[in-house]
Parts: sequence; C-alpha cells; structure tokens
Amino acid sequence: MPKILFIGDVVGKPGRKILREILPQWKEKYQPDVTIVNVENLAHGKGVTPATLAEVDALGVDCFTSGNHIFNKNQLSTACFEKYPKLIRPANYVGQLAGFGYYRFSANGQQYLVINLNGQVFMENQFEGEIANPFFAVDKILEQEEQKGDIILVDFHAEATSEKVALGYYLDGRVAGVFGTHTHVPTADARVLAHGTAHVTDVGMTGSLNGVIGVKKENVLKKFLEQGKFVNELEEDGTLQINSVLVETLAGGKAQSIIKLYQEMSN
Ligand SMILES: [Fe+2]
Repeated sequence: MPKILFIGDVVGKPGRKILREILPQWKEKYQPDVTIVNVENLAHGKGVTPATLAEVDALGVDCFTSGNHIFNKNQLSTACFEKYPKLIRPANYVGQLAGFGYYRFSANGQQYLVINLNGQVFMENQFEGEIANPFFAVDKILEQEEQKGDIILVDFHAEATSEKVALGYYLDGRVAGVFGTHTHVPTADARVLAHGTAHVTDVGMTGSLNGVIGVKKENVLKKFLEQGKFVNELEEDGTLQINSVLVETLAGGKAQSIIKLYQEMSN
C-alpha cells in the first residue's frame, strides 16, 4: 500500500545540503510513493525563492508545504507560488494572499490531498496576518474537496503541543496523517491513533544539529542572558540532521504505521 515520506522543516543551506545527500538514499531504501517537504525555512531560514525551491524540486518532491515565514521573501515568494502549484501555504490565513492551502495530485494511480494549516496559539508575534481557526478551516476543506478514495495528509504548522495533539484527535479517522511542524524539535509520540490517523506532534527540522532550532546558539543565549537585540543568524557549521516520518497506508485512506526516520551527517 502507498507509502508517504514527510520531511520536516528544511532550514537554509545546511538543510538543503543534508536533504540533497539523504533524500535520494531514503528513496532508494524505503521506496516511498510520495514525498512531501516542508519548505517554510528553505531560503536562509525564512521563506522560499525560485532558486532554492528549484534545488529541492530537482530531488523529486510531490508537494511543498510551508508556514508562517512563507511570505518573507516578498515577490520571490509570490513567484514561487506562480511557478509551483504544488507549493502550498496554510489554508487558514485570512485575506487575499498568494497560493492555496491545499493541493491535489495523483501518484501511481492514487489520489492525494495535502492540506496545510497554521496553529493560532502563541503565533501572535510570528505571523503578520490573521490566522483563522484551523479546526473549522480543515472541516470546510474536507467538506468541499474530499473525494472517495483520497489519501489525505495534513501539515499542521503550530507552536503549541496541545493544539497539535488536539487536531490529531479531531481528524482521527478522517485523514491518513497529521504531521506537526514549526517547532523544529522532534517529538517522540509518532503513532497511529485509534481510528487510523498517523500522528506526530512535531516531525523536527532538517538542517544544523547544534544551533538552537537552526540559529547560532551564541546569538540565542545572548538574547536570553542579556535581554539584548536578537541577531538571527543561521548555524552553518557542524553536524547536520534530517528528521522525517514514513507512513504506510491501508486501503480506504487510513494509516497502518508511522515510523520516524532520522540521520546525521558531518557538514
Ligand atoms: Fe514556522
């Protein structure tokens, strides 16, 4: 039955480097039918550009999901949405924005619907626009877009573990997978819920291992210790990490298993 590989937030050049190295190896080893990559932090930690997205697209990706920083590169981000319909952004952002919040495609004769949502909790200072209720938003998309036999996958880009766990239960039995992204630290709770939805609170990030969620640790410590101005610089040196989950599905669009895939490599 179809296998889905979902790669957590690829952060900047270090993230692209390990993805380029490991994704082909994992495709060979695990033979996923579909590969989905969260690219919200792809271009130097914030947003996407045509050049960085093309680099990842060359590896063979079926859908790109994103989150709160997706529009940070302004016209370059907009250009990505025009060029890549498979790039989506959270569906519950309010207003006239570039891109769509879900994407339908077919692979090996199977229909897939990927939905991207953003959490509301603790996001006030992380996204400039308004974020609508993700629970209501996903209900509406399923009501309007779901077709019989779909395998439906949700990237829930959110800060609070409570909101992320709750959405998993809310969608249990209605979608094949709910994958949390955004916090960059993987959680150890990947499991198939009672009614057949694979869930993980956060997949974790792809990029530097020894920064603080991808940023130079010295800069982050300085902010905490001295209350000074935070200088957002990516950690570019040292060991790299790649975090993902692999989901095997059953007929009828439910999940059979979810396992975590993780690897490190030196930069
Ligand atoms: Fe994010």
